[in-house]
Amino acid sequence: PAATAEITLSVNGRRRAVRVEPRVTLLDALRERIGLTGTKKGCDRGECGACTVLVDGERVKSCLTLAVMRQGSEITTVEGLADGDRLHPVQEAFIRHDAFQCGGCTSGQIMSAVACIEEGHTGSPEEIGQWMSGNLCRCACYQNIVAAVADAAEEVRR
Ligand code: FES
Ligand code: FES
Repeated sequence: PAATAEITLSVNGRRRAVRVEPRVTLLDALRERIGLTGTKKGCDRGECGACTVLVDGERVKSCLTLAVMRQGSEITTVEGLADGDRLHPVQEAFIRHDAFQCGGCTSGQIMSAVACIEEGHTGSPEEIGQWMSGNLCRCACYQNIVAAVADAAEEVRR
């Protein structure tokens, strides 16, 4: 068996000790070791964005990075967005705008949207579309996703 190492990840403000092989991706560590299954595995090779999380506030495709490399960073997953029973403005906007069908891409879209708004790339629908283009939606909810991001950006600005 391959050697494992005990590492500590900071996820949604909580320190989590996990034992992983060095080749384990951040995505698998989150889902399979820590039990945070809100982050989805789509392609597992960097193409779909379903696995997007925030690492120190920046969006990262968690299937493309190793868990061992993310010690000392603050990781935020979709489970970390709501404030108790109060959903994050981006989550609320996705519901208001019907911005999902099967939901497979949704947590990745939402994490990406949070960063997109933070980065200030929400000047127009075209700009939002461009900066959200790393997140694919097989159900083609793109129009509603862009509308949700635009609306949430307004909300966050207020
Ligand atoms: Fe990571 Fe598709 S699962 S980009
Ligand atoms: Fe089904 Fe986006 S809602 S893939």
